[in-house]
Amino acid sequence: MPELSRRALLASSIAAASLPAWADQPSQPGLHAHARIKGMFFGTAVASEPLTKDPALMDRVFAECGIVVSENAFKWFDIHPEKEKYDFTGADALMNWATARKIAVRGHTLVWHEANPDWLEPALTKATAEKILRDHIKTVVGRYAGRMVHWDVVNEPLHEEDKKPLALRDSVWLRALGPAYLDIAFHATEAADPHALRVMNEFNVDYEIDWQLRKRDQLLALCADLLHRKVPLQAVGLQAHLDAGEIAIDQKGLSQFVADIASMGLKVIVTELDVRDQRLPASVSARDTAVAAHARAWLDAVLPNPAVLGVLSWGLSDRASWLNDKFARPDGLKQRGLPLDEDLGRKKLWTALANSIDSTAPRPAPKG
Ligand code: G3I
Repeated sequence: MPELSRRALLASSIAAASLPAWADQPSQPGLHAHARIKGMFFGTAVASEPLTKDPALMDRVFAECGIVVSENAFKWFDIHPEKEKYDFTGADALMNWATARKIAVRGHTLVWHEANPDWLEPALTKATAEKILRDHIKTVVGRYAGRMVHWDVVNEPLHEEDKKPLALRDSVWLRALGPAYLDIAFHATEAADPHALRVMNEFNVDYEIDWQLRKRDQLLALCADLLHRKVPLQAVGLQAHLDAGEIAIDQKGLSQFVADIASMGLKVIVTELDVRDQRLPASVSARDTAVAAHARAWLDAVLPNPAVLGVLSWGLSDRASWLNDKFARPDGLKQRGLPLDEDLGRKKLWTALANSIDSTAPRPAPKG
């Protein structure tokens, strides 16, 4: 949809009498508009509840994003709750919302050690596991074929505490199939939808600390190994769950890491950006400044590489973030790790994203 008609639609949804807090800034283009100029995209994860119950937040998703990903609805736990039963309710709801607005959707995720239904592990034997995995991928990927732009085929395959060069994480899939689960998953995804970009998504590769540097090497080794075996991996997702209380970003090392991924012919997507602040003092202004500066340093090291296709944040507004469950602040205040505040106003992190994108060179036009 052209930017003008998007804006007109958005404007028409604003009640004239009581304007929401963000209504003083709709004349500024959203983050996806900034990204598009550079040949990139910006988007966010959307949870199932706000999709149906928070129209104000969804208006902001519409205004800021060119791509969305469901926070949970495509995971096995939600989409394949019983052995013989799929439930596409949440997944279809996001797909339909986005398609109606010409917003792209990325799929997350087909193979993970978490968010699996109780029936799965006991059902996986040497005789059954491959068929169960292939059937799931054929059914889920096949259903959205032609509409899904990327799939996180495998999520978080590495275990950072394992010091072996190829440190695959213990999971139901590794136990049932050995490392071949990776090959099976990527090949089955390609067969079900050859056009969706096939991604391996990883986290904890952001800082110059021993175990994360080791994990960078393990990720590079795993990609090289898969490509050597002709496994159809096409991109690496860097989750970017950052911590503003952590050491400074090693921009040189990080940008070399991205260059090393790109040198294998792989694309890179920033898939789950957020910045936790539970180690920072309570002051909102100080936290917002530190969160924005931290993200800016990370983004400025990563985005300049033309292999980087775009950025998604893991949620758009501080109204709801997994960070409050997993990394609760000791003072009970809510985390401020996302681009918009609880009133849906743009924060310093929004500006850091816009400025980092703006300062990136435009991507070369695709050939042909
Ligand atoms: O939907 C059920 C609900 O029926 C039930 O009553 C309730 C009680 O616990 O749980 C609800 O499910 C929760 C679900 O989020 C939806 O809110 C799960 O317990 C909870 O474990 C789940 O957490 C998600 C987590 O992944 C595990 O799937 C988080 O929302 C989601 O943000 C997080 O996302 C991950 C990415 O997929 C991968 N990268 C890291 C990222 C953060 O952990």
